[in-house]
Amino acid sequence: MSAPHIAAERLGAGYFQDPYSVHARLRAQRPVTPVIMPGGFPVWLVTGYAEARAALADPRMSKRMPGWHPEPGSVIATMDLHMLNSDPPDHGRLRRLVNKAFTVRQVERLRPRITAITGDLLDDMAGQKDQPGVDLLTSFAFPLPITVICELLGVPPADRDDFRAWSATIVSDTPAPEVFQAHATAMARYFMALLAAKRQQPGDDLLSALLAARDDEDRLSENELVSMAFLLLVAGHETTVNLIASGMLALLLNPAELARLRADPALIARAVEELLRYVNPVSNATFRCATEPVELGGLCIGRGDPVLVSLSGANRDPARFGDPDQLDLGRDSSGHLAFGHGIHYCLGAPLARLEAGIAISGLLARFGSISLAVPAASLRWRPSTLIHGLESLPVRLAP
Ligand code: HEM
Repeated sequence: MSAPHIAAERLGAGYFQDPYSVHARLRAQRPVTPVIMPGGFPVWLVTGYAEARAALADPRMSKRMPGWHPEPGSVIATMDLHMLNSDPPDHGRLRRLVNKAFTVRQVERLRPRITAITGDLLDDMAGQKDQPGVDLLTSFAFPLPITVICELLGVPPADRDDFRAWSATIVSDTPAPEVFQAHATAMARYFMALLAAKRQQPGDDLLSALLAARDDEDRLSENELVSMAFLLLVAGHETTVNLIASGMLALLLNPAELARLRADPALIARAVEELLRYVNPVSNATFRCATEPVELGGLCIGRGDPVLVSLSGANRDPARFGDPDQLDLGRDSSGHLAFGHGIHYCLGAPLARLEAGIAISGLLARFGSISLAVPAASLRWRPSTLIHGLESLPVRLAP
């Protein structure tokens, strides 16, 4: 790494439990700084808002590590060829194939179905309300987005628990190598079998449409197809679950803001934006790599150096958002980086906003009283560099 005069700080596992105080401390020293992540890999960590935006928009920040290629035939090679790992021109080609399915207009057509799924989940939870606590994550925040994305793609929802376990391993920083290998292989095989079945019997779903695009016009290789399915399914459920669950936790811990939203349900769209800024379901963007020396935050990032842009760091930068650690549903949160920035800006942002709005409004409308069933300090966050999400969220619900 360049700039050897700055010693890289090693971040411990405590980073996952409270990334915000670590970012605040690092940002106060400099907005771009070398660190060793808890998993042991050295990166330039970008915690300043202006620097994060600049890095995400910089074409010299590539998604491919120069000279690195996955072993042909390996599970990584099978699932690695997706848009989030691609630079132009491949990136644009891959994104254009699915872009239309995720526009605000197209996604709005899913509103009745999302509302119905939400209603069923709320009914189930209402049935459980006499128990000491309901895990809002397992009973509500997880099943909603995964059911929606499974239906959109044409993936049988019955397989979602397997899927949840595989996906959690893949985005975790700490899986044993053999567990990672086993779960990633299971997921790749799952998609290959699913795509083979859809080729025999196409449905009215996005994966069947992508198969048609591949088979008729040869626009997607087999590995690109598996990679696309993998990305859409993982990105479609590992993220929104945390906006709903961590968003509800933030509201429970800020009762005045919760009361404000209850008193004015029309505030929901604005509330979702502020919750995105505040809870950061994706804590850090995926890795970038400098293809040539790049000046950022007054430092020189060397060619080939890995860069980790902290979205949660940027969204709590006091130079951009006043009193950033305060949840304020009335503030103008526009410009937050929770969905990233630049060409990889989240494809699913309209869907995530719609789902979270329906979910949180539905929950507040159904239950007049929602409270934490355990002390807030006992809640644990998942050990992931990418995702900032709770392990569980036990709550008490009453009408
Ligand atoms: C609250 C929910 C969500 C958050 C916070 C979120 C966040 C993000 C972020 C930060 C990125 C850019 C990562 C980077 O530049 O390294 C991204 C990309 C992406 N997201 Fe989301 N996401 C959410 C929901 C969804 C949903 C529901 C889908 C649906 C399929 C989705 C699909 C994607 C895809 C395909 C990309 C890659 C875009 C590209 O490379 O051009 N996301 N998301």
